[in-house]
Amino acid sequence: MGAREVGLPDVVPSGSLPSRVTIWEVGARDGLQNESTVVPVAVKLEFLSRLADAGLSVLEATSFVHPKWVPQLADAAELLSGLDARPGVSYPVLVPNERGLDRAIEAGVRHIAIFASATETFASRNLNRTLDSQFEMFEPTVKRALSAGMDVRGYVSMCFGDPWEGAVPRSQVVAVGERLLEMGCSQLSLGDTIGVATPGQVESLIEGFRDVTKLAVHFHDTYGQALSNTLAALRCGVTTVDSSAGGLGGCPYAESATGNLATEDLVWMLDGLGIETGVDLDKLVECSVWMAEQLGRPSPSRVVRALAK
Ligand code: HMG
Ligand code: MG
Repeated sequence: MGAREVGLPDVVPSGSLPSRVTIWEVGARDGLQNESTVVPVAVKLEFLSRLADAGLSVLEATSFVHPKWVPQLADAAELLSGLDARPGVSYPVLVPNERGLDRAIEAGVRHIAIFASATETFASRNLNRTLDSQFEMFEPTVKRALSAGMDVRGYVSMCFGDPWEGAVPRSQVVAVGERLLEMGCSQLSLGDTIGVATPGQVESLIEGFRDVTKLAVHFHDTYGQALSNTLAALRCGVTTVDSSAGGLGGCPYAESATGNLATEDLVWMLDGLGIETGVDLDKLVECSVWMAEQLGRPSPSRVVRALAK
């Protein structure tokens, strides 16, 4: 049942909100990297195909990271060779370093994302680097990717809280993020990796950056704040939001990182606000119900549970 069927009119509240939001769907990467078992390539391919059928136009497909660090995505090359890429859909992949870039280029990738940490401990745990030395890995990678005509997104993880270091200073996050933008990243995704942020902190962080049009947000729903935080970001001028179909995911090296914001929960809110996304919510729910069956457990998304037939 959609918002219209339950008798709720679209209400566009006062305050500036965008007329359209781009959803950066991370389920196939951020979602599946966190599964305890390796999902077969054929299931991943069908998942991507169903997500495209539901109208999502950015599908983060996989990662070219060290296969020992994330065995769940060790099949990245095989996945891309079997992919039936749809016109109008982009399939970015995560790449941490030049070795990952070589593998991505070999697989025909055109759009990559590097992922930096805002904290010392997470840089060590996720990248085996220090806060400073992570840039020595990213700089040549981004340079080569750009000269090959690729588009590069930058992520910053642990933007608000870090399970080992506690509250993360805003200046530290802005310094890491601005450095990725200076390197040539076309967009910066601000990650609340452990899902602790609240809306005022989101506004404050966004205000710390020079150009809001370059920002995207990536919320995890650990404390149930992901949608409120998203709304706060939209009011600040952000128009790209990361989410994961069915609320799949987390991060393998972040203690207490539960699921990403569910794409269905996001689309329900955006539909209700009259903000276009191009997503067919019924088809997306069908996709997540199917995926939940493959994984053998129900989706944590409230909207999937409410709408599942
Ligand atoms: P390292 O061990 O320091 O790597 O790992 P190294 O550079 O010392 O190389 C050691 C060996 O690994 C070499 O092989 C390399 O060739 C090989 P050898 O010469 O010994 O035979 N190697 C690779 N092989 C395949 N693919 C590669 C690769 N790189 C090196 N790309 C590294 C450093 C960065 C590779 C490792 O730490 C790693 O793979 N980390 C990835 C962790 C990860 O994927 N985490 C999840 C994504 S981040 C996230 O989810 C957060 C996000 O969603 C935002 C948010 O929620 O906030 C994005
Ligand atoms: Mg994440």
